[in-house]
Amino acid sequence: MIVTGKNGQLGSELLDIHMSYPGYKFVFLDRNQLDLAKPEQFEAIFEQYKPAFFINAGAYTAVDKAETEKELAMAVNGIAPGKIATLCREYGAKLIHISTDYVFDGNGTAPYMPDQATHPLNYYGQTKLKGEESALAHNPGTIIIRTAWVYSAYGHNFVKTMLRLMSERPSINVVGDQYGAPTYARDLALAIMDIIGKGAAHQGIYHFSNEGKISWYDFARAIRDLAGLTCAVNEITTADFPTPAKRPAYSVLDKGSLIRDYGIQPRDWQVALKECLGYLQRLA
Ligand SMILES: NC(=O)c1ccc[n+]([C@@H]2O[C@H](COP(=O)([O-])OP(=O)(O)OC[C@H]3O[C@@H](n4cnc5c(N)ncnc54)[C@H](OP(=O)(O)O)[C@@H]3O)[C@@H](O)[C@H]2O)c1
Repeated sequence: MIVTGKNGQLGSELLDIHMSYPGYKFVFLDRNQLDLAKPEQFEAIFEQYKPAFFINAGAYTAVDKAETEKELAMAVNGIAPGKIATLCREYGAKLIHISTDYVFDGNGTAPYMPDQATHPLNYYGQTKLKGEESALAHNPGTIIIRTAWVYSAYGHNFVKTMLRLMSERPSINVVGDQYGAPTYARDLALAIMDIIGKGAAHQGIYHFSNEGKISWYDFARAIRDLAGLTCAVNEITTADFPTPAKRPAYSVLDKGSLIRDYGIQPRDWQVALKECLGYLQRLA
């Protein structure tokens, strides 16, 4: 089993749990071993490892930077998945590719279904949508898992940024008019292994996040309270905090098909957050 993005949040979580799956041989690849912007490198990897599963956890994830670094973002997120999907078909490997809630425009008011119309607001979202489409076009057996608001004890994310800022400053401002559901990357890693363990028999697009619907402001306050910090958290609007890339105002994902097809029931966001914070405290 090949895993790209070895040093990312999801890659690190998969690396952490992989010893619990002794039935599989894992090969974790970082950017130096497999550059997703260099498709000419791909076939040699398939030839060398002949994987049964390919988890594409690597991606260009700098959402704001993607507005200007368009070519690289498209190469990694839009073009590479199609090429990997083709090779997976040729070599008989099952591709599990990770995508994003940012394929939606956020005008919805009910959780987004996997087959609902997409309309990305930013270039990152466009590249990820292109990656989904090309992977499925080249290999209809692909499993795409869209996720959202990912955090982990590893890598860079909102939770770790909040913990740092809250311990440095008396108060911080956080956007309160964007709603979604966070995803503990550990839970996503476990869900992926669960899908594989169940034979990865169902294909197409699935959604995974933890359960709930909150704003970034709600998330920040929960992080503060669970971490026992005292920093004041002020609610601001998206208009108060302009960013190069627009974000959807609402991007809660409906996970019903994952529950139905694979029996995977994500846990509540607070329970997962508490576990991650406890883990971070033990690491400190
Ligand atoms: N983070 C979120 O909030 C979020 C939300 C929705 C969906 N997702 C999706 O979830 C998946 C996992 O995201 P994550 O949060 O784990 O991302 P992450 O922590 O940013 O990790 C991404 C990984 O991809 C690697 N990478 C970037 N460019 C590469 C290239 N050209 N060749 C090879 N590797 C490359 C990075 O390598 P380096 O370590 O060398 O930089 C990093 O290890 C991605 O598909 C992402 O689009 C994430």
